[in-house]
Amino acid sequence: MGLIIDSERLSRAFGDHRAVDGLALAIAPGEIFGLLGPNGAGKTTTIRMLSTLLPPSGGTARVCGFDVVRSAGEVRRRIGYVMQQVSPMGYYLLTGREKAEIEAALYHVPRRRLKARVGEVLELVGLSESADRLVQEYSGGMQKRLDLACGLLHQPELLILDEPTLGLDVQSRHHMWDHIRSLCDEGMTVLLATNYMDEADRLCDRLTIIDHGRQVVGGTPAELKAALGVATLDEVFLRHTGHALREESG
Ligand SMILES: Nc1ncnc2c1ncn2[C@@H]1O[C@H](COP(=O)(O)OP(=O)(O)O)[C@@H](O)[C@H]1O
Ligand SMILES: [Mg+2]
Repeated sequence: MGLIIDSERLSRAFGDHRAVDGLALAIAPGEIFGLLGPNGAGKTTTIRMLSTLLPPSGGTARVCGFDVVRSAGEVRRRIGYVMQQVSPMGYYLLTGREKAEIEAALYHVPRRRLKARVGEVLELVGLSESADRLVQEYSGGMQKRLDLACGLLHQPELLILDEPTLGLDVQSRHHMWDHIRSLCDEGMTVLLATNYMDEADRLCDRLTIIDHGRQVVGGTPAELKAALGVATLDEVFLRHTGHALREESG
């Protein structure tokens, strides 16, 4: 089988600002691939192009074998996209199960399979026992896991996670990492955007670091650290960009 994500010179400008500038990605089936960079680096813009929500202003990208511009529908059927921001307020008055059922209908999960599939994905992320509680009573970590479950409803080939542990406490982050790992054990391909270098170090098979929309360096976490003789990906980032990662909001 070919690549799950294959992009060449993928670019997006907003006015004069090049948010993403010439990205080449080659992601194989079954990989957890990390898109790393500080806030504003261009991670979400890249993901929005790969998931067909934003047209590129230059270059090409194929996802699951289909061009994101010419065959957007084929791409959408094959990917799950878990967005960076938490769920809209409208969902808070629903239970976790009700929210997942609505999303399942939106994803065209067949009616006769819908209840069973919702039960399966809630089980997968450890929310079976909380499924009938209101989403507004969920902790931040539970809400992120519910979002993850919803991204799995239509059994995508590729799961795209935009900062899945942003703002979570240490324990919730570890839970999320376990769930992501077990998905990959079952053959899912994952594209993970994060600005937490430790997260990428723990989870990713391979990664690329981007800064100001451009690729800085890529490889396995071990290769990147060994090449510079450093212990952490934070240090790799600092050495390659000349600046430290800044923790900002937004
Ligand atoms: N719709 C938009 N209009 C104008 N500028 C945008 C838009 N979306 C993103 N940007 C800009 O593009 C750059 C990259 O943003 P983004 O992809 O969200 O970065 P990241 O996800 O890595 O934090 C930022 O400078 C951001 O302000
Ligand atoms: Mg982002």
